[in-house]
Amino acid sequence: MSAASPARNPATPRHTALVRVTHWITVLAFFALLITGAEIVVSHPRFYWGEVGNVMTRPLFTIPIPSSRDTVPTGFNYVMPDQNGWSRYLHFQAAWVAVLTGLVYAIYGFWTGHFRKNIFPARGDRTWRAFSARIAKYLRRAPPDEAEAHSYNILQRTAYLGVIFVLFPLVIWTGLAMSPAFTAAFPATASLLGGRQSARTLHFFVSGFLLLFLIIHVAMVALSGFRSRMRAMITGGAGAPSLTTPEPAPALAPELANQERP
Ligand code: HEM
Repeated sequence: MSAASPARNPATPRHTALVRVTHWITVLAFFALLITGAEIVVSHPRFYWGEVGNVMTRPLFTIPIPSSRDTVPTGFNYVMPDQNGWSRYLHFQAAWVAVLTGLVYAIYGFWTGHFRKNIFPARGDRTWRAFSARIAKYLRRAPPDEAEAHSYNILQRTAYLGVIFVLFPLVIWTGLAMSPAFTAAFPATASLLGGRQSARTLHFFVSGFLLLFLIIHVAMVALSGFRSRMRAMITGGAGAPSLTTPEPAPALAPELANQERP
């Protein structure tokens, strides 16, 4: 049983409107970033370390795919269709959508105590035992217990913490560190990472971890009951157990006090 404090109020939605709206905008932006990011990689599937990297320098590693530019040596006798133009525009546009949406969500999360109450692992759950017990439960495909009907479990909280406070900030930092305009104003953002090409390589790996998060996240949603969890994340699921703070239960009239509640 999770030590996370249960909060039940059938009148309020499981997820607040702000969490739902920012979640689905982030998902849309993320898919746009993923597709356009892949197109940008195809235009130069070689990765370098340091400040400088081009077809004349030794790559750190190469993704074994043909490039969309015939000037890039890949070992393949084939050039992919070039989708680099619109991909770059959409990538930068979607990145700003993700950054601004993330900012609104972060301010809301701190301001309302949503992060403290619902995302940071509860004190009693911060143990390897609680962690491994929940993994074992997922592997057994056991249904979620009562506490999880109105509170994220330790694995969900850890994954959300990682994506909100580590992966997202890192992908934004490494992305900005590739922008000449940004690094001209804040050179340390690139030099701290080892240079602009190092930033690109790190950006690629952090994006890979975000993709891994996405796969595990959707699998965990599916194992907890895909339809009901999705319904709650789309409509709010008013009437379902809530993640938000409960209102006190109304007092019973004295003559009803000894009777069972319906
Ligand atoms: C990279 C893309 C995604 C990110 C960064 C992300 C992140 C998150 C975060 C941080 C939460 C917790 C929200 C909160 O309470 O503050 C959450 C919940 C949730 N997400 Fe995602 N998500 C992503 C993609 C998806 C996708 C593609 C789906 C569905 C197919 C999905 C379905 C859900 C559901 C149903 C919940 C609520 C889980 C529950 O109540 O047990 N997410 N997501």
